[in-house]
Amino acid sequence: MSQVLVASNRGPVSFSLSDDGTLTMRRGGGGLVSGLAAVTGGPGRPPSEPGGADVLWVCAALGEADRTAARQAPDGRLDEAGYDTGGAAVRMLDIPAATFHRAYNAVANSTLWFIHHLLYDTPRVPHFDARSRRDWQSYEAYNAAFADAMARDAAEGSKAVIQDYHLSLAPRMLRDRRPDLKIAHFSHTPWAPPEYYRLLPDDIGAQVLEGILGADHAGFLTERWADAFLDCCGLLPGARVDRVARTVAYKGHTTRIGVHGLGIDGEELRRRASESDVISRAEALSEQVGDRKLIVRVDRTELSKNIVRGLAAYREMLTNHPEWRGRVVHLAFAYPSRHDLPEYREYTAAVQRTAEQITDEFGTPEWDPLILQVNDDYPRSLAAYGLADVLMVNPIRDGMNLVAKEGPILSERGSVLVLSREAGAAAELGEHALMVNPYDVSQTAEALHQALLMPRDERLARCDRLAAAAAALPPHRWFGDQLDALD
Ligand code: F6P
Repeated sequence: MSQVLVASNRGPVSFSLSDDGTLTMRRGGGGLVSGLAAVTGGPGRPPSEPGGADVLWVCAALGEADRTAARQAPDGRLDEAGYDTGGAAVRMLDIPAATFHRAYNAVANSTLWFIHHLLYDTPRVPHFDARSRRDWQSYEAYNAAFADAMARDAAEGSKAVIQDYHLSLAPRMLRDRRPDLKIAHFSHTPWAPPEYYRLLPDDIGAQVLEGILGADHAGFLTERWADAFLDCCGLLPGARVDRVARTVAYKGHTTRIGVHGLGIDGEELRRRASESDVISRAEALSEQVGDRKLIVRVDRTELSKNIVRGLAAYREMLTNHPEWRGRVVHLAFAYPSRHDLPEYREYTAAVQRTAEQITDEFGTPEWDPLILQVNDDYPRSLAAYGLADVLMVNPIRDGMNLVAKEGPILSERGSVLVLSREAGAAAELGEHALMVNPYDVSQTAEALHQALLMPRDERLARCDRLAAAAAALPPHRWFGDQLDALD
């Protein structure tokens, strides 16, 4: 059997440690992990044919509990330690906590994520000093730890599929160590246009590009992000960019650039949504909302998700169209994310403050206009998708956004999708959604109003088309295409 190595920061499982020292394993979260777990297997799920390959998934230990589990497993191999990691062999890397913290929080999430999502107005970002150099060295060390593990474990001629902005240096490091391997890199984020990319110090910006150009194939979720990457490669001295063939030649090696959209395994999602924990939550939500219309949003507490402007749009709709007061409820579910970073803690507080203002302004003893819940409850999100009349997805910028795809698949009432034109998903779903400029609160408010007014037949027809488009590129195809691109 051929071998495929997968590398990503977050792996298919993570651990928590109780006071008595017991480790409990659970499924890792996020779009990338869901996509990969669908093809490589995950806890409780069989792998679905990544070309009949033998998969080794290399990931980082994300906290103290993960580190304990990785240390206790033989050479970090969780599957060999008896954990249910689905069909894949999983090696969890015990990267020193300080190195991990700087690589993940300071470089990947505060710098590269901010650049690609145009979060440039946050004061910390265009700020590179001696401390940032130290952080960058940790990012190099973190990438080298992945490259070392893959170089050691890969069989001759194997394929290695490296994921995301945490690991942009790893493709070149791996090529230097193992030129016999076929290497792919995939970006789950948008890619910054050159004028924003240039906020990075020149040497760091160049190293990120050089790192990805160490791969044979560099994949993106949409043409827009692939084109932006090609534009940035145009900044790299010595790189020859062929926009028609979508290739970049650099230092004697050519990288092909590909577009691979990621969608949903509709059957698996429906199966999950039929489980009792989702049904009981749907009953509780129905009771809470009664016969009122329902606007739903589901996000991580993430700056790029634009939750505050979404709430402001709901407020403006209630102000401009008072006929909806008492007749609509907005459910906003936010999963705590990256709270080690002050920007994320402050943003979550801003979301909560805005929600309180809306409740104070419009709430009555009989009517809660807004229910904001900041906690992690996946079955509750699935239940809300089923009940939604309107699904609001308004990121300022997003690689794809799988909420926009999951919602229509589970919708029971024919929910209308109000979708940001800046989400990667807009390229596939836009014509069936109500598209908005995410910065334009008034336009978003009006789209919510139009969505609530839309006749039932039109809603159902649009929702059917959205669901079909959302399931058109299931994860096994996305992954298979990346592997095929290496042949
Ligand atoms: O590429 C984006 C991504 O890695 C997605 O998988 C996921 O939605 C999110 O970022 C998870 O972020 P984190 O691993 O920092 O929680």
